[in-house]
Amino acid sequence: MWRMADYDLTRRPRRLRQNPAIREFVAETRLHPADFILPLFFADGIDAPREIPSMPGVYQHTPESLVAVCREALEAGVKCVDLFGVPREEDKDATGSVAVAEDGVLNRGIALLRKEFGNELIIMADTCLDEFTDHGHCGVLAADAHGNEIVDNDATVAIYCDMAVAQARAGAHIVSPSGMMDGQIGAIREALDRNGFTEVAIMAYSAKYASKFFGPFRDAVGSSLKGDRRTYQQDPANVRESLLEAELDIAEGADFVMVKPALPYLDVLAKIAETSPVPVAAYQVSGEYAMLNAAGQNGWIDYEETMMESLVSIKRAGADQIFTYYAIEAAKRLNG
Ligand code: PBG
Repeated sequence: MWRMADYDLTRRPRRLRQNPAIREFVAETRLHPADFILPLFFADGIDAPREIPSMPGVYQHTPESLVAVCREALEAGVKCVDLFGVPREEDKDATGSVAVAEDGVLNRGIALLRKEFGNELIIMADTCLDEFTDHGHCGVLAADAHGNEIVDNDATVAIYCDMAVAQARAGAHIVSPSGMMDGQIGAIREALDRNGFTEVAIMAYSAKYASKFFGPFRDAVGSSLKGDRRTYQQDPANVRESLLEAELDIAEGADFVMVKPALPYLDVLAKIAETSPVPVAAYQVSGEYAMLNAAGQNGWIDYEETMMESLVSIKRAGADQIFTYYAIEAAKRLNG
């Protein structure tokens, strides 16, 4: 018969798991409210906050509710928000010109927050055209030599430069090009510097995948997209090109690189984090949020514990900052 005494069990890993105190003592990864970035939607032409059906608890904001949620975030210890603009349908056009206009919804939202919070809150702006174009693509359309419709890389980057400068002028501390156009980071860096915004940082969406996990976000911003973004966002099957994208972005001057989505792409995150000389962020996207919420609402998972587990996993894989719609909720839980 097998007996424990016959077996030299010098190593008993359970020693370090035996009670909450020792588990906390040996924890390798600790979440902190300052790890989180809260994505926010600021909408034009609404007079009350509007809840997004596929993202319970997430709203399109009015000026008042936007300021209020930022104050709540700060009180919970969250230092950074990422602002997306939701224009009125009739303000969309082929080139997304409202994205650049000083009185466009996103630039007004940035200015409002900067005036209200100064440098107390880190204001990040989404630097992409998809919310503003009537076709919903992240860039402008053109025809290639064979008459096929394409998203024109270089013409788009030129608009991103104007958009980033407009956002910096409105008061953004960080611009975040999320359109996956080639050369966008270097061009934006140059445009910001030329306009005197050397202090404005760039969060590069380096490894952004053509992911169906973005579904609820497209409801959130009222996206006009038909079709997909596979000619500019990455193929979920690939990891090598993520390393190339991050390397190029860092060489072009990115202050942060980012991986998106987060949970289904932890391997990509871990690889980039291994060698990146700049902070690495991860974006827990709308679909990740929607799935946890739906299962939680059904009582199929312990929603709060699963939320915290998902966040600690993203940090363990190598994220220095985490974009998450749970920022305030998770921060409050960490604060006890
Ligand atoms: C594009 C953008 C998207 C998201 C953030 N920025 C959507 C897309 O690429 O279609 C997705 C965020 C989320 O799903 O939470 N500006």
